[in-house]
Amino acid sequence: MKKLIPTTILLLLSSFSFSQDITFSSDQVEQGNSIYVENCQICHGTNLDNGQFATPIKGFFFEMKWGGKTLGELARFTWEEMPEGNGKYLRMEEYIAAVAFILSKNGIEAGDTPMSEDLDSLDAIMLPF
Ligand code: HEC
Repeated sequence: MKKLIPTTILLLLSSFSFSQDITFSSDQVEQGNSIYVENCQICHGTNLDNGQFATPIKGFFFEMKWGGKTLGELARFTWEEMPEGNGKYLRMEEYIAAVAFILSKNGIEAGDTPMSEDLDSLDAIMLPF
């Protein structure tokens, strides 16, 4: 009984995670790359920051703009607004892959765990910029 209480407290603490890490798989990055080329590159450019018709989605200005926001906010914006004027055009899976591709181009590495397609759960994850 004496041992049970600290164990319970530890278990409770470990079930709360205060800041989750971003995860996405290299398969998502690969899929996102093709989606980007087909649907996004025409405005955002071949290098994500050299588009004539859109703001940069790589580098300093993008990271300044989205720093302090959540992954859920970024994914929701992309889903609702992109391609510009034609939001919700792709499947959620494809939007999530495109976001994974964008993040990989901003220096975040792919891992084993894929990014969730559940936007609410992505709200718990801060962008690390
Ligand atoms: C017709 C041109 C066009 C296409 C195609 C397009 N975008 Fe955009 N995108 C824009 C414009 C313009 C903005 C800036 C909108 C704003 O700030 O409200 C933007 C902003 C963004 C942002 C946020 C950047 C910021 O400055 O806050 C992301 C992320 C994004 N686009 C992703 C995508 C993805 C992913 C696709 C492909 C599925 C895509 N876009 C296709 C024009 C486009």
